[in-house]
Amino acid sequence: MPTNTLSITDNRTGKSYELPVTDGTIKAADLRQIKTGDDDFGLMTYDPGFTNTASCRSAITFIDGDAGILRYRGYPIEQLAEQSTFLETAYLLLRGELPSKAELERWVHDITHHTIIHENVRKFLDGFRYDAHPMGVFVSTVAALSTFYPEAKRIDDEGSRQSQIFRLIAKSPTVAAFAYRHMIGMPYAYPDNELSYTGNFLNMMFRATEVRYKPDPVLERALDVLFILHADHEQNCSTSAMRGVGSAHSDPYSAMAAAAAALYGPLHGGANEEVLRMLREIGTAQAIPAFIKRVKTHEVRLMGFGHRVYKNYDPRAKIIKQTADEVFEVTGRNPLIDIARELERIALEDDYFVERKLYPNVDFYSGIIYEAMRFFPVEMFPVLFAIGRTPGWLAQWHELLLDKDQRIARPRQIYTGAGERRYVPITAR
Ligand code: SDX
Repeated sequence: MPTNTLSITDNRTGKSYELPVTDGTIKAADLRQIKTGDDDFGLMTYDPGFTNTASCRSAITFIDGDAGILRYRGYPIEQLAEQSTFLETAYLLLRGELPSKAELERWVHDITHHTIIHENVRKFLDGFRYDAHPMGVFVSTVAALSTFYPEAKRIDDEGSRQSQIFRLIAKSPTVAAFAYRHMIGMPYAYPDNELSYTGNFLNMMFRATEVRYKPDPVLERALDVLFILHADHEQNCSTSAMRGVGSAHSDPYSAMAAAAAALYGPLHGGANEEVLRMLREIGTAQAIPAFIKRVKTHEVRLMGFGHRVYKNYDPRAKIIKQTADEVFEVTGRNPLIDIARELERIALEDDYFVERKLYPNVDFYSGIIYEAMRFFPVEMFPVLFAIGRTPGWLAQWHELLLDKDQRIARPRQIYTGAGERRYVPITAR
């Protein structure tokens, strides 16, 4: 009768061990008993990039990378993108269930009434270089918000946790828009609480001299869908940063600043900005074969392609590609889309990419939509990603704090440095 155990024989000692298998995993700590002698620390796993290591149990997001499945709390991303709103999806991620009408109204009210940031924030926003990258401003300002809400340190108090969750979801768009306005030298446009979450974000980004900004409903909805698609993605790099910092019981603003800093990287959320730069560098469909050659020699990466988990088409990329056509109806076609589609067509037929299972990921088409909206500069693309990911980061942080298995994150290492040696005075070196 098969049992849920792993039988291991250590050929160094001839000893055998039975390790329990739970949820398709063994506990790494169970390996420590496998030793060659009393002074042996015991066996560890070596897993750079955590390619095969589960860091937690989570009920928030499910991904099947081979089947191209993404679900938030069990709901397929396709259904949420079509029928839900970003704030409703944020509620689902954080509370685990879809809200009733009354619950959603309360949730939207609570978030809408936290959109304003303290006037002191403007003072240090003004201290950034005139052309500071908005993602650098966003990361710094989210961290600085921790100094405005010192009670956020009470991470064991549910009331405080909820207050900070409302504030961060509400203020992310404000901080993002203020960072943009600083970069273009425009006065800050304050929140308009009569508008929807994305309508207000567009208002704070693009209001000029009109008394009240009227967002284009197609762009408002397209942004809502994009935020839904970016809302969570289980244990990606930035979420791992959120959980890592959160595991030290830092406040959620400091943890989210770390998460946003990780997202800023070009291999992660910064890829959408790099996709646009890549498409502009390619310039024409005729130039694609030469670019593909450079990718194959590892001279450049095909930004927006590849994924640690998806070895099939990223389901989010499919939806974004469909949304692009709706946006183009309003903004006019973005010529870069033709280069992107030709690049995708070639890549999906080329053995180099097929063998490595490199498909378009969420970042490949999102940048093109943002660009098509004409107003978002490429520097804003990772910031848009951060706004969308805020509820996911917070849901993961909240789940971590309630998980009895969790402890402060502190991985081990394989030491490769020098053995003990005596200090040599500088006169003798
Ligand atoms: C996001 O984890 C998440 O969930 C992230 C995310 C989220 O929602 O949070 O989905 C968002 O970050 C999407 C990914 C955005 N990044 C990019 O588009 C940047 C380009 N892609 C990569 O650099 C890469 O694919 C990663 C970082 C996404 C994944 O890297 P892995 O899993 O470590 O894969 P790898 O680098 O080991 O690559 C495996 C092979 C290598 O070939 P060989 O060296 O073995 O010959 O595939 C090649 C790589 O060189 N490869 C690529 C490539 N990505 C991988 N070759 C060319 N272009 C690429 N984009």
